[in-house]
Amino acid sequence: MNSISEILKSEFIGKDVTIRGWVYRSRSMGKKAFVVIRDSTGIIQAVAERSNMPEEEFTLAEGITAESSVEVTGTVAEDKRAPGERELRLKSFKVFCRNESFPVTKDKGEEFLLDIRHLWLRSREFTSILKIRSTVFRSFADYFYGQNYYQVQAPMMVSTATEGGSTLFKVPFFGEEVNLTQSSQFYLETMIFSLEKVFTIAPSFRAEKSRTRRHLTEYWHAEGEAAWFGNEEMMQEEEKMISHIIKEVIKDNSEDLERLGRDLNKLKTYTFPFPRMKYSDVIKLGRSLGLDVNYGDDLGADEERTITMQFSKPTFITDFPATLKSFYHRPNPENPETVLCHDLLAPEGYGEIIGGGERIWELDVLQRRLRESGLREDDYYWYVDLRRYGSIPHSGFGLGLDRLVMWICGLESIRDAIPFPRTIRRMKP
Ligand code: 4AD
Repeated sequence: MNSISEILKSEFIGKDVTIRGWVYRSRSMGKKAFVVIRDSTGIIQAVAERSNMPEEEFTLAEGITAESSVEVTGTVAEDKRAPGERELRLKSFKVFCRNESFPVTKDKGEEFLLDIRHLWLRSREFTSILKIRSTVFRSFADYFYGQNYYQVQAPMMVSTATEGGSTLFKVPFFGEEVNLTQSSQFYLETMIFSLEKVFTIAPSFRAEKSRTRRHLTEYWHAEGEAAWFGNEEMMQEEEKMISHIIKEVIKDNSEDLERLGRDLNKLKTYTFPFPRMKYSDVIKLGRSLGLDVNYGDDLGADEERTITMQFSKPTFITDFPATLKSFYHRPNPENPETVLCHDLLAPEGYGEIIGGGERIWELDVLQRRLRESGLREDDYYWYVDLRRYGSIPHSGFGLGLDRLVMWICGLESIRDAIPFPRTIRRMKP
């Protein structure tokens, strides 16, 4: 058995090969049938000629339909007109499953394509997105292994909120209720006391009622936490990580990026260091662009879109007012109205892909911030304990992997960055 990319790349001309795959498209012209076959690696044109093969196999090839599954054997030949400039002159044509008709065509509406996502995943565009997504997940982990981080796992069913109660999903739990996790951060913080530097890749859940291009209710969250790191050191780690991921995608997926119409030259410029900008200056920039934003406002998707259209690189936003951020962020000793945190905003209108910062590590400050946020210390007893026993300065971050894939692929909606999106209106397939 050979893969299609193998046949296209190396010197197979004149050799007999067997491939398995699915029919991408087909047409028949009397004595000949042209069947373009795809596998996970590419497409190749196979030509069936009545005189070259058993009659019943030619009949099968002639009448074959899109997405039927087949196994074919033939001789590789050069043909300048064929995709990849190779074709397969068939000697045998076997069918595993012949489809009556395949329900997916490109001109179908958005909701229909979402209903049949399980089949739409086979499109060449989606195949490319899935391949890029695979590189993103792999290179995220590789980067942190390379920096001596340990990969850890946290529970998905939790009793506490990390990012505020309004987006919590509650699920029944043996007569009680439990929340689906919004972030593994607090659990990662527990593990730095034994491992110092940790990361995880896991789903996070947000009961987001808003329907935007960049919100899912279940998304893939890549989080890291490092002992002894300050806010600035954490940002330096993140900019290197993002640059590394982009470099790997360009190296391994340039064909996929081109298929999606992504401008590779633009992607190539997204190398570290990334600029830093204070929240107050972002507000000023927003106002100069005509946005109705004031100091203390949270930037929504639309505002971030307008602002990041001006950016030529991913940009860290720092010095947010404490009122905009969760209780665990460390107040800036030089200006306690603000916290030592950062968001990383992707350019080209994409907006926030990372949220992170320095954590409060002094016991009394954490207790005060819990009170001010209306939270019960008892509920967070284990998180508070970390500040009681051998507490240390530390920082961390959370990266929305689906948002990263969306930006790298240049997609319009986050729903196309994940195989099975979950949103306020979508639970199937
Ligand atoms: O900014 P967030 O809420 O930060 C946290 O959850 C921290 N506890 C992470 C940490 O420090 N360990 O979320 C982090 C990132 C966002 O920047 C965004 O990329 C992504 O998670 N995100 C979402 N992605 C898709 N759909 C949603 N509804 C998302 N909400 C957040």
